[in-house]
Amino acid sequence: MFHFFKKYSQPLFEGLCDFHNHLLPGIDDGSKTVGMSLNMLEAYQKLGFKSVIPTPHVYQELYPNTPETIQKAFQELSAVKHPENAPSIPSYGAEYMVDETFIKNLESGVPSLLLCKKYILVEIHFFGGTQLLEQACFELSQKGILPILAHPERYQSLETVAQYQALKQKGFYLQLNALSLLGHYGPQVKQKAEKILQAGLYDFVATDAHHPNHLKTLQTLRLSKKQGLMWEGIREFQLNRF
Ligand SMILES: [Fe+2]
Repeated sequence: MFHFFKKYSQPLFEGLCDFHNHLLPGIDDGSKTVGMSLNMLEAYQKLGFKSVIPTPHVYQELYPNTPETIQKAFQELSAVKHPENAPSIPSYGAEYMVDETFIKNLESGVPSLLLCKKYILVEIHFFGGTQLLEQACFELSQKGILPILAHPERYQSLETVAQYQALKQKGFYLQLNALSLLGHYGPQVKQKAEKILQAGLYDFVATDAHHPNHLKTLQTLRLSKKQGLMWEGIREFQLNRF
């Protein structure tokens, strides 16, 4: 019964853009120093990524970043010599926490830290509900912005395939954290990630790397043949957009 052990053996991240990570130094719970960011770039290169768009947290309660604080960290990292053949860092975005502040700011304008000028990366509290997400989705669509929900497998209030389908119908793109498939966030998250992948509901994949070890761990990721087929679909979709 050798077919049970068949693995998907293509390079998983070759040529991709990692548009969700915490590479920029010193402004959230990600990289602490420029040196650590350079170590991350080295690890990115080993995984085969073509480019990296850093997305620091914008979360009023914990990481009240602004376009200015993020630009400053971006310039700090841009000013030093990067490892040979490291992926490019063409621009930066943010990972917006959808809370009351986010909704309030949406009423008065368009968030400026977008990806490819049209996507916005959003997250919600891990243990909270999804009401604000629905409100945000409506406001964002009015402004012509396309929301990408970061790591949908990690939220306690989201569990069933029907819930994920409903989010997609509302206009959300779903982004898998690749580390979820390795059980990095626990067995339940792993199970949900496998279920969403199998249902063909993920649109994008990213690392959400906070430090070099996250990226080194990803070198151990192996997929079954069935998962590999779904992964191919995500890769193709992403390569055409980022
Ligand atoms: Fe993140």
